[in-house]
Amino acid sequence: MSLNGTAVRPCWEQLPMLLRDGLTARLGPITSAQPQSGGFTPGLAARIQLVDGDRVFVKGIDSGHALADRYRAEAEVVRALPAEAPAPRLRWDAEIAGWSVLAFDDAAGRHADLAPGSRDIPLVAEMIASLAAVLTPCPVSHVPHAAAELAGLVHGWKELAAEPPADLDAWALRNLDSLTESESTWLTAADGKTLLHGDINASNLLVADTTVLLVDWGQPASGAAWIDVADLIPHLILAGHTPAAAEQAITGALSATGVHPDVVTSYAIAFAGYWARTSRQPAPPGVPNLRSYQARAAAAALQWVAHRTHWT
Ligand SMILES: Nc1ncnc2c1ncn2[C@@H]1O[C@H](COP(=O)(O)OP(=O)(O)OP(=O)(O)O)[C@@H](O)[C@H]1O
Ligand SMILES: [Mg+2]
Repeated sequence: MSLNGTAVRPCWEQLPMLLRDGLTARLGPITSAQPQSGGFTPGLAARIQLVDGDRVFVKGIDSGHALADRYRAEAEVVRALPAEAPAPRLRWDAEIAGWSVLAFDDAAGRHADLAPGSRDIPLVAEMIASLAAVLTPCPVSHVPHAAAELAGLVHGWKELAAEPPADLDAWALRNLDSLTESESTWLTAADGKTLLHGDINASNLLVADTTVLLVDWGQPASGAAWIDVADLIPHLILAGHTPAAAEQAITGALSATGVHPDVVTSYAIAFAGYWARTSRQPAPPGVPNLRSYQARAAAAALQWVAHRTHWT
């Protein structure tokens, strides 16, 4: 999957002058600011080279933006991460010229390549498998519980069944009743004591040599460790794996969580429903590529569901 050109983010020159001045006052003189691709948030995300030779990653968004709360949540979570968590360190967060800004150690990596045969895959699988030990018990007290948080988000078939769209996938249309019936049973297994990242995808996995770091902690929850592990599967399919190969790639990590296979099947159904539902919503302002990505993700997740259910 190509991640380039997904988010439409401002470059340094497009930022309000007061913000640029405030950042320069905080960071010191800047040599260059490289806007980053990946993700869909229309905020600032740039790797900044400073005149003194230091490098820093800065992300920020207008404090009045609907997503600003995620930035605040991310600062709180990253500050609480144990030192051994595979994540860049937060240097500071601040309100600058009406923007919520976070500054991190710069991670000199590239997005993980999740295509079949990629050498990143065992490294990513190993890192994801290690998360539960580092993040249990959840080191942050204010994060929402996964079952409550995800119940209102990760679903879609009930809504689609109420008024099936004309372009709904033929297999999904045939199995709409079963999909609707099964899309929420996983919620009974979602609670747990692990801090979950909640947005595992290639653009949030930075690989340098054999090290994989997880960035973008703005959607945290406390819950069952299997959720972050299972989230990788549709992204492996999206990157070209067959569902069987995608599951094989993280089979050790997933079985270590002790999750029941029926729970994973229900979760796959819910995720496919989430993407099938949200891909049909109007595009949010300033985010032109999100809906087409979600449509591709829905197709990948449906392949995963068909593989697990054997429904015809
Ligand atoms: N500490 C870091 N060092 C270097 N690059 C980083 C760092 N953190 C993030 N990036 C790069 O910037 C991109 C955007 O960062 P991040 O995902 O945190 O921002 P976001 O705007 O919240 O994104 P999203 O739209 O995915 O929610 C990442 O995909 C990654 O390529
Ligand atoms: Mg991201």
